[in-house]
Amino acid sequence: MDEELSQIDGELGWSPIRSINLAGNTYNEYVYAGHSVISVKCGIGKVNAAIATQALLNNFATDYVINVGIAGNLSQELKFGDVVIANDLVEHDFDMSSFGVPLGQIVGVNTFSFVADSWLKELLTRRIQLESNQVVCGRIVSGDQFIDDAGKAAFLRSEFNALACEMEGAAIAHVCYANKIPFAVIRSLSDMAGQDGDAFHSFTELKEMAAKRAALVVKNLLREI
Ligand code: ADE
Repeated sequence: MDEELSQIDGELGWSPIRSINLAGNTYNEYVYAGHSVISVKCGIGKVNAAIATQALLNNFATDYVINVGIAGNLSQELKFGDVVIANDLVEHDFDMSSFGVPLGQIVGVNTFSFVADSWLKELLTRRIQLESNQVVCGRIVSGDQFIDDAGKAAFLRSEFNALACEMEGAAIAHVCYANKIPFAVIRSLSDMAGQDGDAFHSFTELKEMAAKRAALVVKNLLREI
């Protein structure tokens, strides 16, 4: 979303050296901490995320994909602004359970979850700290639903043992898996996914704060790589 990308732009204070438009998205190219970095706002949902990621990989020589943004909290131990680094990701709304396939398993794909790059994960969880918030590693689930329901949140937590829910990460991970490109997903928590009053109001109030925490983590990561 604009609110997520603008926190990254604000934190990094960078200016693009080039911009191009592909499949309706703007790709900005920067040089930051000695790296060539491309940023793109992919929009909301799994299909938008997949389009933006595949166009990125088709048009730029890409070593790593880093997805940065906010998420709903499924854990009792985490609080708003804490950052979840994906260990792995599952598309929670991929459902062929009528055929005896476990919920989330994508038929024809040789893995249940999409596992993030271990070196990036290590850098993110061992070397990066925030003054005010925890940075933890765990599973993130993605689906084309804004989760604003205590029962659904509890189901996602117990079914997938997930710490956070959002709407793009697993799709980006899936595209990276298909293209054999290492990736990381960095998400800061903006709401309780409906477990603590309504998620919409918390999301609306806290999205900039959470997006800033995620932006701080990606800034530190780019300086560590
Ligand atoms: N992104 C941030 N909060 C979310 C939620 N509750 N559900 C899905 N995506 C989110």
